[in-house]
Amino acid sequence: MCGIVGYVGKKPVVDILLDGLEQLEYRGYDSSGIALKCADSIKVYKAEGKLKNLREELAPHAYELTKATTGIGHIRWATHGAPTVLNAHPHTCNCGNLTVVHNGIIENYKELKEELEAKGCTFRSQTDTETVAHLVASIYGQVKDLTKAVHLASEKIQGAYALCIMHNNEPNKIVVTKRNAPLIVGYGENEFYVASDIPAFIKHTKRAVYLSDNQVATLTPDSIVLEDEHGNKLEPKVELLPWEPIALSKMGYKHFMLKEIHEQPDVIRNILVGKLHTPEDPIVLDEVKLTRETLKNLNRIQIIACGTSLHAAMIGKYIIENFCGIPVDVEASSEYIYRKTVTDEHTLVIGVSQSGETADTLTAIKQSKAKGSHILIITNRPDSAMAREADSLIPVSAGIEVSVAATKSYIAQLTSFYLLALYMAEIKGTMAQSDLTALKAEMMLLPQKIEQILAHKEDIQKCARKYSGTRDFIYIARGINYPTALEGALKLKEISYINATGYSAGELKHGPIAMLDETMPVLSILMKGSVYEKLLSNSEEAKARNARMIALTNSTDEKLDDLFDFIIRVPDVIELLSPIVAMIPLQLIAYYIAEFLGKDVDQPRNLAKSVTVE
Ligand code: M6R
Repeated sequence: MCGIVGYVGKKPVVDILLDGLEQLEYRGYDSSGIALKCADSIKVYKAEGKLKNLREELAPHAYELTKATTGIGHIRWATHGAPTVLNAHPHTCNCGNLTVVHNGIIENYKELKEELEAKGCTFRSQTDTETVAHLVASIYGQVKDLTKAVHLASEKIQGAYALCIMHNNEPNKIVVTKRNAPLIVGYGENEFYVASDIPAFIKHTKRAVYLSDNQVATLTPDSIVLEDEHGNKLEPKVELLPWEPIALSKMGYKHFMLKEIHEQPDVIRNILVGKLHTPEDPIVLDEVKLTRETLKNLNRIQIIACGTSLHAAMIGKYIIENFCGIPVDVEASSEYIYRKTVTDEHTLVIGVSQSGETADTLTAIKQSKAKGSHILIITNRPDSAMAREADSLIPVSAGIEVSVAATKSYIAQLTSFYLLALYMAEIKGTMAQSDLTALKAEMMLLPQKIEQILAHKEDIQKCARKYSGTRDFIYIARGINYPTALEGALKLKEISYINATGYSAGELKHGPIAMLDETMPVLSILMKGSVYEKLLSNSEEAKARNARMIALTNSTDEKLDDLFDFIIRVPDVIELLSPIVAMIPLQLIAYYIAEFLGKDVDQPRNLAKSVTVE
């Protein structure tokens, strides 16, 4: 989380930093700040809240700041300390000569702070980052060399970090380093950019170096000196980024989320191109690098992910077990990394992540890779840290997703799981040919079915309006759509702040039913198939407790009219593919409720698009 950007060169730096930070706003938006090397001092400007506040703060100084050509900037997602101006980055040492921006968490900051306070440093913020400013400055006082000071400080710092540091005594220079957090250096003509993600500088250059952990780079307008942790010089490996500058536009939609929901039919079409030609042809999935022999003998899979990606993983488990008969464990990465996990070279480990940068998932992947497992990554960012750990990489190609609430990336992850499960089933011979053909034919129809739902979104809008005054919301489902209930609830809570929960409907009577009364909306994801009748009975049980019943269904059964107060009907679809169709109205319900309540749909409070802290 947090975004950092830096520039050293000949151009006025302020706009470069502000534009870069704007591209990184998805990483957090609690506060922002920049530090500029001016004639005889480093000037720091900060503001609470979104970047526009920093722009306003800087406006009166616009002219005097045009001379600055070296600077660093930061956009914060608060971890240590409230989102105030005092806690906003950049942080400086006591004399103001050294300034730092940081992405990550300094785990031993308390110990470091005690040591530094004992040496006379005065702390002004509650952040872990300020320790870095004092630590590097105090070492600089002895060694009088910023690069050396950063090396020596890195030895004392524990945790995850990407750091950009400037010192007033060493003008036109930024020293950068990282450990377990992304940092990329962009090459221009007599200039260098540095950022925690490519969009921050892609409009200026496509040539870049991904820093590896513990490397230190010293950037001046004319040179980059890259060193390993011991100070040995390294040849930077410059890559050409496969990126075009993206004009992020809402294309007439009120919010990015609504636009991204509407992009989903095309997202599926794009994914299927080249992989699913006709229902009769086998799935082509060259991205999977396991041999056919290994796949045939594969008898265990683990899937690790967080948040929405975890819900996609749960559906992945359901379909892989169903299609291929391979046992699959799914676990939240944050749990996986802190227990003794049993994995080895015979286990396929699948990491799922929209951003490819989620710290917990990245750590989990590295742990299982160290144990010899084949790592398959499903991500929307083929240039991400996770992608670089992959033995097999399935890029989901949903296109950049701006809204913090994941929508199209989720549908893209699900589509990729279907392709993967079908591909493995075909190799293992675990499905009848007729079932395979029928399923593939249905998959090809998914984009049209989503389009039909979107064409009738006004009905869903009505439903959202009707229930927008509620404080709580329950989603129930069974079987393959249990994760859909979890994801529907997550969507609603993250953008509307309504207390929404997804339950397996069979579990309702084991506790949650106690909450039901005439104020509680219960949305039943009632898709035809193996658990339809069971879910209907569970819905009856909820109705008997006076809950406000809503059905999301592909059934035309008239008896539903008596049971439910509101029915959202979706096109017919086979049960195994129903999670994709069922999710679209749930995304829209969350969207319209949040929009109706006047919430900041694309940038909900306390969240960030990329969660790079554990
Ligand atoms: O980038 P990832 O898919 O690894 O992110 C995981 C979660 O942080 C993410 O899915 C989060 O739950 C989204 N905000 C959900 O909309």
